[in-house]
Amino acid sequence: MFNKMKQRKISLSFLLLLTNILVFGQKKQPFYWGVATAAYQVEGAYQTDGKGESKWDFLTNKVGITQFTIGEKQTGNVAINMYDRTQYLKDLALLKQLGANAYRFSLDWSRIIPDGTGAVNEKALAHYDQLIDDVLAAGLEPFVTIYHFDYPVVLMQKGGWGNPAMIDWYMNYASVVMKRFGKKVKHFITFNEPYIEFFLVENMLHEQENKHIPPKEYYMSQMQKAHRQLIANAKAIELYHSLHLKGQIGIVLNVNPGAAWNANNAADVKAANFQDILINGLFLDPLYKGKYPQMAMDSLAKYNPSFQPSASDLAFIAHNKPDFLGINFYAPAVVKGEDSAMSLKWLDNNPDAVKSNVGPVMPEYLYKMLIRLKKDYGNPTVYITENGTGFAGEDVVKDGKINDPLRIDYIQRHVTWALKAKKEGANLGGYMVWSGWDNFEWVSGYTKRLGLIYVDYKTQERIPKQSFYEYKQLIKKHKGL
Ligand code: FCB
Repeated sequence: MFNKMKQRKISLSFLLLLTNILVFGQKKQPFYWGVATAAYQVEGAYQTDGKGESKWDFLTNKVGITQFTIGEKQTGNVAINMYDRTQYLKDLALLKQLGANAYRFSLDWSRIIPDGTGAVNEKALAHYDQLIDDVLAAGLEPFVTIYHFDYPVVLMQKGGWGNPAMIDWYMNYASVVMKRFGKKVKHFITFNEPYIEFFLVENMLHEQENKHIPPKEYYMSQMQKAHRQLIANAKAIELYHSLHLKGQIGIVLNVNPGAAWNANNAADVKAANFQDILINGLFLDPLYKGKYPQMAMDSLAKYNPSFQPSASDLAFIAHNKPDFLGINFYAPAVVKGEDSAMSLKWLDNNPDAVKSNVGPVMPEYLYKMLIRLKKDYGNPTVYITENGTGFAGEDVVKDGKINDPLRIDYIQRHVTWALKAKKEGANLGGYMVWSGWDNFEWVSGYTKRLGLIYVDYKTQERIPKQSFYEYKQLIKKHKGL
């Protein structure tokens, strides 16, 4: 009897699977285990095959942005040489060895449309076409980020997201990408971490350059840019769905849940709640609830009354929801009552004795965030599109090996908490480590190593760290989740 029931159950689920394949052209998705990178941080070849100058080429080479943080000028001109096919094929082979089934990477707009809006560069398209084929041939599902912080510098000089036309410029580029790669790529990402782009990196630059605009007012003018990016996101989702490409499109947000420095101090708790709304609510609420959090709007409006998102914009954003949400989780925002809400003071608060380079290690907040997405935001499909860390002094080669127990502990604990949330009903579909390889870390240049694979920046030699082998075990243990 039991066997018969089991047989029926099996044939039923087989039928369901078949219907899915025949009707929807889709198989049930496996749980994705992978690593992530972004074009500017890994590709190098900054003037190859007709690539145009990008915002980050400009910031690193001409502004010398890393000087403000590390006191030295560093660039992604060479990075870790991953534009080179001979190089990246070896790198993909390492991911195969890892047992990964997904690879998240980004496309460089300044390669594909060098001047931002004009002619499309066929060489760049052919390059990415080949890369996508090679990723698929290595048994990896490509998660393709269309825009990861970087874009042609000419558009930045026209105001970037400060210019309303940026939405059309982005749509033109996104449409080229979707039409060219949409048959092979089943997971597109519209944008990466608008909060970090507008409120962290641009804020930092603003402090260096434009001291005449008070930070609070500046903060609110950044809201306008972020809002435009959310509209572009919704437009790209609308376009993608109209193309019927049988895949999914989503957006990636950094999530940093607010945590009080001292949970027994009312001022800390209040400040943490407010910071939480500014970092997470300002993006999650419009995407999933069609409105900005009232508390943020009330307290911020006075600094820039010109930011007045229209009801139709908000309805449009809510109507074109992402098919999935990518979350980049590194650490909560630990906040003290005295921190000004519009400053980035919280970034310095870290109670840990041994400090990681991505903030306090508190993996339970990843769990809390996943449960919150389930309860408060309609339980969307979530992929953890970045999680990882580094500790000063850990990434050193000794006898040809890199022993990184603190990174191993970090990854293991975050995976444990993430899977606990999944078990409790959070709709989690994958987990990706930032990063596969040590690479160019934006304002910190090459001083922060976050890879599972060590890179010798002079020789481009790769050495898998101990964490690579431990992550491999983790993937093996949870295969078939
Ligand atoms: C995230 C970025 C990613 C990388 C990690 C460490 O904010 O998305 O490119 O720099 O931080």
